[in-house]
Amino acid sequence: MKIPTPADEQRHSLLEIDQYIERLFVPRDFVFLQALRDAAEAGLPKINVSANEGKLLYLLARIAGARRVLEIGLLGGYSTMWLAQAIGPQGHLVTLEVDEKCIRIARKNLERAGLMSRVEIRHGDAQILLKRMVDGEEQPFDLVFIDADKPSYPVYLDYAVRLTHPGSLILADNVIRDGKVTQIAENDKLVQGIQEFNKKLAVHPKLEAIVVTVTREGIDGLAITRVKD
Ligand code: SAH
Ligand code: DHB
Ligand code: MG
Repeated sequence: MKIPTPADEQRHSLLEIDQYIERLFVPRDFVFLQALRDAAEAGLPKINVSANEGKLLYLLARIAGARRVLEIGLLGGYSTMWLAQAIGPQGHLVTLEVDEKCIRIARKNLERAGLMSRVEIRHGDAQILLKRMVDGEEQPFDLVFIDADKPSYPVYLDYAVRLTHPGSLILADNVIRDGKVTQIAENDKLVQGIQEFNKKLAVHPKLEAIVVTVTREGIDGLAITRVKD
């Protein structure tokens, strides 16, 4: 039997704390659980936001009174469901996804949740779709959630600024990566992308921001940003 190291014990308690919060604050909802089950069965990676982070996204959107939301990175539509629920029936959520299999599964999940009527899925590489949105003078969004490929995060931030208005929120998932961002990442393109994103975010003249840690098995982070007036 492997003797648990202090690191193992800490991970264990992080998970227990996360589950404790979830038991109290995130009531079990059939369509949300079924969405995760179907995504897993279809072989999608389990890289969706946690239930607690989903509730946090929902609350931030509610507090901001967001009606128009842009999501970059749909996967099986789990975070999409939280955000779509927050914007109400009059809201509109545009989500960008490159993988057709993800889109198929997400559409089923959103339909089952009765949320598809307020969601618009756009298929393609996010950078191309975002450029098209800027060129086409897309109506600005009240909230942007960045959660696709990590090396593109700095570029996504530029587009998010161009597609929002003063007072909008820009959120980004996975900005701590178990603390790897605190180290010099020699070859890890993912970590390097996030490090560059965090630096850019911290000094951006049009933005005020902070990173909060989110935990599950490990520690990750959510960047919370307000576009200045
Ligand atoms: N927001 C989801 C998780 C997204 S995982 C949730 O929490 O439930 C990241 C997603 O981004 C994957 O589905 C992946 O296919 C998509 N993706 C990766 N690179 C992309 C790109 N260049 N353009 C659009 N989507 C991309
Ligand atoms: C990865 C992507 C995510 O959006 C996430 O929440 C966790 C992991 C990844 O690409 O490894
Ligand atoms: Mg993520």
